[in-house]
Amino acid sequence: MFQHLSVSPSEHVIIEAHPDVLQHMRETGWYDKKGVTILEGKWQDHIEALHIPGFDVVYTDTFSEDYVELHKFFEILPELLEGPDSRFSFFHGLGATNALFYDVYTQVSEMHLADVGVNIEWSEVDVFADTTPATWGKTREYFAMRHYRLPIGKMRTV
Ligand SMILES: C[S@@+](CC[C@H](N)C(=O)[O-])C[C@H]1O[C@@H](n2cnc3c(N)ncnc32)[C@H](O)[C@@H]1O
Repeated sequence: MFQHLSVSPSEHVIIEAHPDVLQHMRETGWYDKKGVTILEGKWQDHIEALHIPGFDVVYTDTFSEDYVELHKFFEILPELLEGPDSRFSFFHGLGATNALFYDVYTQVSEMHLADVGVNIEWSEVDVFADTTPATWGKTREYFAMRHYRLPIGKMRTV
């Protein structure tokens, strides 16, 4: 989606660990795209070598790491974001098989991000509105909520 923006990013860094996914990316031309850098391996092994601070947008979606790892990612965010207008998001599928757990993870992640100086705004997306089975496939098994909560975070300025 970043690559399909009307102005694609001047620099787009992707960290991907799985060999099959990397192979697929090789076959589909990701390694040849202008401005795209692919770092093979885990984000935990690459993050310190990134030229930081420097990103306008940071997105993480490391299915299926646990919340402990996501929390570690939150803690380095202030170093990754260029400035107060830079934006952060993550795929919020935390506890998404149960409404109570989903609420708890929403609150907990917001608090942990506040601890590192990142304010989150949530938007709700009605994912039941899309009734095309092919869009979801097996992923329905780990995301059962009607509303996806989309987080957008920015560094607090005051
Ligand atoms: C749900 S997919 C991401 C999809 C991506 N957001 C997109 O829209 O195309 C999760 C990916 O994270 C990768 N991954 C999981 N743990 C990782 C880690 N520690 N470091 C880097 N990549 C990881 C998996 O191999 C998988 O390809």
